[in-house]
Amino acid sequence: ADPDPLQDFCVGILNSTSTSLNGFPCKPAFQVTSDDFFFDGLSKEGNTDNVFGFSVTPGNVLAFPGLNTLGLSMNRVDYAPGGMNPPHSHPRATESGVVIKGKLFVGFVTTDNKFYSKVLTAGQMFVVPRGLVHFQMNVGKGKALTFTAFNSHLPGAIVLPTTLFASTPPIPNDVLTKTFQVEASVIDGIKTKFGA
Ligand code: GLV
Ligand code: MN
Repeated sequence: ADPDPLQDFCVGILNSTSTSLNGFPCKPAFQVTSDDFFFDGLSKEGNTDNVFGFSVTPGNVLAFPGLNTLGLSMNRVDYAPGGMNPPHSHPRATESGVVIKGKLFVGFVTTDNKFYSKVLTAGQMFVVPRGLVHFQMNVGKGKALTFTAFNSHLPGAIVLPTTLFASTPPIPNDVLTKTFQVEASVIDGIKTKFGA
């Protein structure tokens, strides 16, 4: 979904103070080395010790600046037993993924509110069309692991529970009580779970 590149590569300078554009400015070619095109960040298991029992390790342009302008990126996602990647969407990319380990319940909902889902095991692949809300849940006995790929160097993630209940500043309770047709105490209870 990203625009086409205008040169072979444009290794991103993430901390440029002089230039800002759609993407990141390019490191001068004479400073580019092999190391700019390799990334070790997805080799280690993430820490799943959180309320959801999962961990996303991003391999996007912010972590791996060699991806700048190339229109793709990857994540590593680790799941504790029973862990989940909660409902979220990527505004700038279609996602595809492959299960490396474990048994994963994967689903997304379309703009006309249809739910598509399947339980996948190692070696099996899934796709989530751009922008649609989706989740993955570990339904196996042990840990699960996936690698996901995106057609954007920075897909972005709108994570529904934190977007709605842990924004800064918070969305006022009267918006959320009306949205979900519940009492304020229910909203407060949810907000507390996310440390708001
Ligand atoms: C999985 O849904 C991911 O966003 O990596
Ligand atoms: Mn996703």
